[in-house]
Amino acid sequence: MKDSDHTALSWDEWDELKNPRPEGNDFDSVVDAALSRRGFLSGLVAFGSGAAVMGTGLLGSTSAQALQATRFAFSPIPIATDGTVHVPEGYSWKPMVRWGDPLFSDAEPFDPATGVTLTSSDRVFGENTDGIESFVHGTKQIIAVNHEYVNTTTNLPQTHADGVAATAEDAQLLRNLQGVTVMEVAQGEDGWAVVVDSPYNRRITQDTEMMLTGPAAGSDMVKTLSDPDGMTARGTMNNCGSGKTPWGTYLTCEENFNGYFGSTDAALELTPEQARYGVGVEGRYGYEKFDARFDISQDPNEPNTQGWIVEIDPTDPDSTPIKHTALGRFKHENAACAIAPDGRVVVYMGDDERSEFLYKFVSNDVYVPGGDTSTLLDDGTLFVAKFLENGSGQWLALTPDSTGMSPAEIAVYSRVAASEVGATTMDRPEWVAVSPNEIAAYCALTNNTKRGIAPNAGGDETPVGGPNPRAENEYGQIVRWYPANEDHADPAFTWDLYVMAGNPTKHDDAYSGSRNVTAGNMFNSPDGLVIDSTGLVWIQTDGDDSNEGDFEGQGNNQMLAGDPATGEIHRFLTGPNGGEVTGLCWSADKRTMFIGIQHPGGNFPDGEGSLPRSTVIAVSRDDNGLIG
Ligand code: FEO
Ligand code: CA
Ligand code: CA
Ligand code: CA
Repeated sequence: MKDSDHTALSWDEWDELKNPRPEGNDFDSVVDAALSRRGFLSGLVAFGSGAAVMGTGLLGSTSAQALQATRFAFSPIPIATDGTVHVPEGYSWKPMVRWGDPLFSDAEPFDPATGVTLTSSDRVFGENTDGIESFVHGTKQIIAVNHEYVNTTTNLPQTHADGVAATAEDAQLLRNLQGVTVMEVAQGEDGWAVVVDSPYNRRITQDTEMMLTGPAAGSDMVKTLSDPDGMTARGTMNNCGSGKTPWGTYLTCEENFNGYFGSTDAALELTPEQARYGVGVEGRYGYEKFDARFDISQDPNEPNTQGWIVEIDPTDPDSTPIKHTALGRFKHENAACAIAPDGRVVVYMGDDERSEFLYKFVSNDVYVPGGDTSTLLDDGTLFVAKFLENGSGQWLALTPDSTGMSPAEIAVYSRVAASEVGATTMDRPEWVAVSPNEIAAYCALTNNTKRGIAPNAGGDETPVGGPNPRAENEYGQIVRWYPANEDHADPAFTWDLYVMAGNPTKHDDAYSGSRNVTAGNMFNSPDGLVIDSTGLVWIQTDGDDSNEGDFEGQGNNQMLAGDPATGEIHRFLTGPNGGEVTGLCWSADKRTMFIGIQHPGGNFPDGEGSLPRSTVIAVSRDDNGLIG
């Protein structure tokens, strides 16, 4: 693909383009020597209490075939390389809502050839669905869902020029199709659909006014041309994964915000903090040409108003979204909440960039059902994870004492603070999931082509080892941790690897994957991660779907289910070629799964003659049984 076509790339592909993998290097031979498959597995045995759990499944059995299917209500399906979705026998899928579907009756119908018009663009379901959560409000089912980014080649088929918006109107159209949709859904004769014109329906875009709260609110670092007081922010950007608070609000997580900003002054010198966060002179969408807000040579603090966790009340369409700066600023993937035994709220969060960090926030106040929750996400401590080789770990507090930074600086430049305390550089932390039926949490580490061969943007080393045991890791793994004293607020934990993705037909070393990866279930790049009410771990992938080379036999992106007790993993769903499977929630009766298909290729799901449409699908059992 030409560089000029870069907006047709996924975010991952664009990032690879901008930060290419270095040529061969000295580390390769070191890794070959250190990471034979046998060596890797015996290393795992040495791990702490978690290894005992793994030992019953992954390591105690002599072959993958010894894993017994016990908890899966479906027969696993093979890989696919075609342009549609596949689910197991006895299950069916159907689109529920697609890019461009009207939320309000005053929106124009979607045009399969030209897409969405500017006038309708904030009245329809946006593009590139990602994190998704469902809420029950009285008799209503409300869904909040992210629109991570837009493909300009898809959204601007008429005017698209060199992958960037050609006019201010183009830029506005793109801005409107991102952000968040809140919508009421209902099941009719034709299946699940949006309740058009429901009073709960709402679009939140890159222009919706938001509040800033917590330590950075009002600080000099967030004072902008539009708000010299630094108490508000304009819109939300690159809304990736999601979260749900115990009190029933939606958390949307701002990931690759840096790409929306550029400079009309090509000679502008970047600050170290801008460089650390990837804010640069060349914007991905060209917005800076049309609006000073996106031009860091004119409004240098505007990027500091992005990169946060945003709380939205899905039951109040007039509410102002809140950016909680106490939860730190980085490329937020998702936000997984837990309640400590004493009632404090814990929020786990990954920073999805090569060799950045895994964080948690612990509130000072305690959650009381029905009580005041307004301070819980503003008043507390941000921690960052340090993993030790022996299977233990520590959450390091980011405080003025530990970092030499003010509370506002720790919030705005959390990466810098985390580097200061010596956190563990990770293989791109994507979604975190908290188990509902054991005191444990899991994080998908999607891949890291620079592990062991280049430092992160802050200069931190990326040693091979611990939860990141493979150099130039192109397959990814899932780490899980068990908080000390069965308390998510405790600063200590033990950890192990739940799975290491790999390709056992191509490799016989660590790159073949852990023992619960077989020729029959293999995948790469775990990303979305949700644990259902029965404790099954649902794994969604966003990886290389070429089905060639190191990825041969892995097919399109997919969704698998894992049993944490035995380690076994079965493939449940395959997505259309070119697309990513991301975002999962359930209907109130747990008889339908809502699953996101992002940036599909071809003509998914409408067929010949239509632009490809990012879609939330509904999956159910043909016997209408429970599904999670
Ligand atoms: Fe938006 Fe890291 O996925
Ligand atoms: Ca994505
Ligand atoms: Ca993701
Ligand atoms: Ca990803």
